[in-house]
Amino acid sequence: MAKRIYDISWDEYQKLQLEERRPYLMQPDGAPYHTLFAQQFGLDLLERLAQSANEIRAIAKTREGSEFLKALLSHRRAMLYFSQPSSRTFLSFVSACQILGISTGEVRDTAISSEFKGESREDSVRTFSSYFDLIIMRTPEKGLAEHMAWVLSNSERPTPIINAGSGQDQHPTQALLDIYTLLRSFERSGGLRDRTVLFCGDLLRGRTVRSLSYLLTHYPNIRQVFVAPPQLQVGQDVQDVLKAKGADFALTGDFQGALPAADAVYMTRIQDEWDEKKGESARIDTSRFKFGAAELKLLAPRAILMHPLPRRDEIATVVDSDPRAMYWRQMRNGMWVRAALIAMTFGCDTAIHEHFRRNY
Ligand code: ASP
Ligand code: CP
Repeated sequence: MAKRIYDISWDEYQKLQLEERRPYLMQPDGAPYHTLFAQQFGLDLLERLAQSANEIRAIAKTREGSEFLKALLSHRRAMLYFSQPSSRTFLSFVSACQILGISTGEVRDTAISSEFKGESREDSVRTFSSYFDLIIMRTPEKGLAEHMAWVLSNSERPTPIINAGSGQDQHPTQALLDIYTLLRSFERSGGLRDRTVLFCGDLLRGRTVRSLSYLLTHYPNIRQVFVAPPQLQVGQDVQDVLKAKGADFALTGDFQGALPAADAVYMTRIQDEWDEKKGESARIDTSRFKFGAAELKLLAPRAILMHPLPRRDEIATVVDSDPRAMYWRQMRNGMWVRAALIAMTFGCDTAIHEHFRRNY
């Protein structure tokens, strides 16, 4: 029998490794109910998601198609609870909901919600679940979305939660759109296998790297190269996961030396909002970890350049017009992937698939 999150106490649940938590969060057909961390997604699910995203993208091109999609979930409402800044995750989730006909509500500033009056997070989220059918949440705290998923699953109105970024820990839907971008970029040249993916920047505190690095272990013969100053190099937790998975990876401080071998370069921003002491990051020499005209010359002709965005100066704007710069398309891919994930959460990806098969 399927394990459900209400079959286990919070204390017991927390003792489980992430992969052991997975069965508690999934639906009988293998789709996620709550989407909380990258470790919930195996290869089959990633393929299914990419296929749905492609189908939604194609169907949405026409008025008839768009009306079909909008009718699918027009009886559902989603709450976007973002207590940490966001542009594209927030907007792409709103757009994804609009594509599927879902109406949305939002809290983006807890100073104007009743949290300001001292209401607990648990009570706030339970309040949202009284009015909405899906909660999409971004918070500075690690593990909060997961705790809320447990709380709601044990309430009289269970409601799915999607983690839209949790502290320094995870950003699972970013990793899903990153994988989708890699799959699309390499689909005509042998697929996502036998590739080198280079991560550069603040790999210690960047949650997108933590989530994507894990998903890459599902694909055959992927080498991951982590390029950063020593103070910002990828954490031991990520390295332990990669070792346990038998993944091929290396750590280096030599960006220009590592660049020519890369098939995909994933740049990241210095996450100085997490500085323990003010100005701490500014004292780290990051000048050799930026992508400009010189790095473009070292990039292989068929390689791609990615960035979860927002960027500061780690990719020079002169690079934007190069066909290998993938970050704008990567960002738009987020809308299709998030629509596919929501469709799957509500069990309507099969209807999308059938519609696509009949009409395209
Ligand atoms: N937008 C991404 C995140 O929220 C990356 C970043 O902010 O640097 O994790
Ligand atoms: N990539 C990303 O999560 O962007 P935002 O922080 O703008 O949502």
